[in-house]
Amino acid sequence: MFVLPFILSAALAPFVLGQDDTPLQIQAIEAHFNNSGIVPTLLSTFAPTAVFTLAFQGSGNIQPGQAFTDNSKVAPTPNLTLTGGTYNAGDLFTLAMVDAGPVGSAEDSQTRHWLVNGVTVTGDKAPFTVSTDNATAITEYAGPAPPPGSGPHRYVVLLYSQPSDFQAPDGLNTANVGVSTFDFPSYVQSTHLGALVAGTYFTVEAGTASVSLSATQPVVTSTLPAASSTSGSSSPSSPSTTPTQGGNGSSGNSGSNQGSSAPVTRAISWTAVMAGIAAIVIFN
Ligand SMILES: *[C@@H]1O[C@H](CO)[C@@H](O)[C@H](O)[C@H]1NC(C)=O
Ligand SMILES: *[C@@H]1O[C@H](CO)[C@@H](O)[C@H](O)[C@H]1NC(C)=O
Ligand SMILES: *[C@@H]1O[C@H](CO)[C@@H](O)[C@H](O)[C@H]1NC(C)=O
Ligand SMILES: *[C@@H]1O[C@H](CO)[C@@H](O)[C@H](O)[C@H]1NC(C)=O
Repeated sequence: MFVLPFILSAALAPFVLGQDDTPLQIQAIEAHFNNSGIVPTLLSTFAPTAVFTLAFQGSGNIQPGQAFTDNSKVAPTPNLTLTGGTYNAGDLFTLAMVDAGPVGSAEDSQTRHWLVNGVTVTGDKAPFTVSTDNATAITEYAGPAPPPGSGPHRYVVLLYSQPSDFQAPDGLNTANVGVSTFDFPSYVQSTHLGALVAGTYFTVEAGTASVSLSATQPVVTSTLPAASSTSGSSSPSSPSTTPTQGGNGSSGNSGSNQGSSAPVTRAISWTAVMAGIAAIVIFN
């Protein structure tokens, strides 16, 4: 029984030692956004400066594009951390989570599941904590509940710099506005939000899709430019893919148990391989 703690600590190692592979992780999330159509459908461009990690009570740290079929795994409100970038006391941010629908949907509005103005980033070093303690929750975190049969919906979580001339629009300028649809790109533009600091996404699917779905290309981190500058991979270099979901398993390398179709490895390193094993243990 001493094996599990060992595996768990190996799984945590990439996060603890994560600074080195931040450029690779940033390229990987960019590739995930490209391959899942979030760029250019929701965002015209995406060049984050930090890796955004969401930790849910029932799931721990989730991976970009991780697929869920049980929405209790992505509730309640996650903890958020950033790796990469520098932050000053007094810097403000806006946090949003929107449902961009299944891959291929060309919707001109998004469902707002979370919107918080005046978010702060705390801590002396990575991972920095994204705090909503002193912020205004326009819409409190509302967990995903996609319609059954509608395919895997993409829940995109984004952190924008919120400059001093930020102006919340009527209807979205006080706390406790319920979930509804809005035009997210136009919100970002009209309120004068600044740089997109970080983003990630996951999918939730309810029931079996009764619609035809576009495929999402898997992200192969070993082919990303930053991978070639990752040194010291002294160990079994298996090709490391982090599949994103399109339909019922277009990337096809894992079982369909809850959460297990999640991307499990990311860097070609011994710790990542161990993390993958641990992730399989955890997700099962
Ligand atoms: C994402 O797509 C953009 C625009 O097509 C491209 O310039 C960029 O290199 C892509 N990034 C990755 C990591 O695939
Ligand atoms: C979130 O943060 C709180 C406070 O640090 C901690 O007690 C809790 O275990 C964290 N939850 C997750 C899922 O990481
Ligand atoms: C919230 O505001 C209080 C009082 O100004 C301050 O002491 C605290 O550090 C702030 N917390 C965060 C997370 O910014
Ligand atoms: C995936 O979809 C195809 C075509 O709709 C279907 O034949 C196949 O059984 C599905 N596989 C799973 C694992 O649901």
